[in-house]
Amino acid sequence: MVRKSAVGLVLMLMMTTLLTAQADHLIGNIPGRKTISLNGSWRYIIDSYETGFYNYRYKERRQTDPEAYWNTDIPRNSSERKEHGYTNSRTLQVPGDWNSQDKKLLYYEGTIWYKKSFDYKMPPSPGPVFLYFGAVNYRADVYLNGVKLGMHKGGFTAFNFEIPDTLLKRTGNFLVVKVDNRRHANEIPTLNTDWWNYGGITRDVMLVELPRSYIIDYSVHLKRIAGNDSIGGWVRLSGANPGEKIIVEIPELKIKQSYNVENAQVGIAFVARNLQYWSPLTPKRYRVIISSGLDRVEESIGFRSIEASGRQVLLNGQPLFMRGISIHEEIPGGMRRAHSKADALQLLGWAKELGCNMVRLAHYPHNEMMTRMADSLGILVWSEIPVYWTINFSQAEVLDKAKTQLREMITRDRNRSSVIIWSVGNETPVSEIRTEFMRSLLEQARELDDTRLVSAALEVHYDRENNINLIDDPLGKYVDLVSFNEYLGWYVGTPASCRTANWKTIYDKPLFISETGAEALSGYHGGEAVMWTEEYQAWYYREQLAMLDRMPSNFVGISPWLLVDFRSPRRNNPEFQDGWNNKGLFDHSGKKKKAFYLLRAYYNKKASLKN
Ligand code: GCU
Repeated sequence: MVRKSAVGLVLMLMMTTLLTAQADHLIGNIPGRKTISLNGSWRYIIDSYETGFYNYRYKERRQTDPEAYWNTDIPRNSSERKEHGYTNSRTLQVPGDWNSQDKKLLYYEGTIWYKKSFDYKMPPSPGPVFLYFGAVNYRADVYLNGVKLGMHKGGFTAFNFEIPDTLLKRTGNFLVVKVDNRRHANEIPTLNTDWWNYGGITRDVMLVELPRSYIIDYSVHLKRIAGNDSIGGWVRLSGANPGEKIIVEIPELKIKQSYNVENAQVGIAFVARNLQYWSPLTPKRYRVIISSGLDRVEESIGFRSIEASGRQVLLNGQPLFMRGISIHEEIPGGMRRAHSKADALQLLGWAKELGCNMVRLAHYPHNEMMTRMADSLGILVWSEIPVYWTINFSQAEVLDKAKTQLREMITRDRNRSSVIIWSVGNETPVSEIRTEFMRSLLEQARELDDTRLVSAALEVHYDRENNINLIDDPLGKYVDLVSFNEYLGWYVGTPASCRTANWKTIYDKPLFISETGAEALSGYHGGEAVMWTEEYQAWYYREQLAMLDRMPSNFVGISPWLLVDFRSPRRNNPEFQDGWNNKGLFDHSGKKKKAFYLLRAYYNKKASLKN
């Protein structure tokens, strides 16, 4: 008996390792699937020495090691020694960062073990079950009933693991996630950022129940064929069963198309008459239903076209001027990561109030509620991976990590009409090796999705002598939209410098200001030349906005930095910052600063002029 069980154990370990390695395709449209939420109260252990992962010789513990924190914490009898325990007196809410849930965790960077026990009722015709995470910052090692499902790195993108058939139990499933939010030089982002390093299971956790053969993912978007509006895309299946069909329905357009399944990826294309385009003014979406032999998913999708044409950006064939604002994924009042629908409505509602038709979701992919809410509110989205500042561009493994996050970002949001720009980074220092690194990301973004613009936030050459501000970053050659961050009047010169500023670019492409801004401590008033006052920030915006009227003719929009004050460990002026970057137009409590009204007036005027 012992021999047999040992062989069985070895086989299962081999299977699990095999499966762990394979479970990497992200299931598309999770909200449209049969899911069981694992959100709520999870027990936790702070483990800054990673005792639960390494033994005293600093070797990763064996899977069956009773002292590993992924194994039960309940002694089998009174003589068994356990030196770890998940107690009901130490719980964290999921989704949610840990920094905002317990004062002692505000600055914590390290490992926290999360544990959730749950029962599971097998459905009548069981198929594959995936464990899905909206995001975990930064590294997640996931274990179920003592077996490792896999590891994921990347703090802002979704991932899922297929659960081996025999692993789920009817009662008392023991789910453990080791979360480590420490920063490292060879990660994405790297050690140095200007935002709070919130750690934890920051977005939803769900079990996803799929039929035996299922629709993994799909893309459905507007195409034009021979001048007619048509819809194109593809559907990817878990397996190609001969004779199976894919059906795509858009009931409101009286469309029902069927396709024979020859292999696991099926192309779709059909004419769509009387289609109403999605746009900020008319955020029209259609119910789209995709069904295969055993599976059926649906969601609301808007159809629109976005393209860079010469020196313009065209939305549905019309020139677009982007009245944007940059946003961090943070609810300032709660000093926490945003994650809910209400959070998305708060932040995007403020952007709407500002007169925006676009938001730059900086500097990482925001939670899915944001992009789905932007679809329904009619707000265009710039979505970005955190290739930020001094990434280690020389390491192939770092490029792989950036590519993984880029693929995960695009896979989740490829059917979001609001998303019009994929950005592969922000303010990366120019060098040959960096430009090649970023170029290859742009190339991958186009391969994954050729229906959107690709860009990155570049920096400016301030030529103080000739008073010319030049955008000539070599990366500009490879983007569709030449975007740059400028702080003329904050980090360079004074707001008065804007009056004589000349802007030039060597690229004959649409030009976009992806950041500009100044700090103001809300409620601090004085003469406009007094640093940190609301009057100084207002002066900055007045001069900047006047300058925009003198931008080159390929200037197509701006997303100032930024909507709301946000937390940053870099900002340590005790009187005017105190751990906050106060460049928001809204303060920590959601109160508007003087500059808000200047930008809103400018946007309302732009909107009335219809670009
Ligand atoms: C940079 C950077 C932002 C940062 C901002 C600032 O441009 O992209 O992440 O917060 O400037 O200095 O406030």
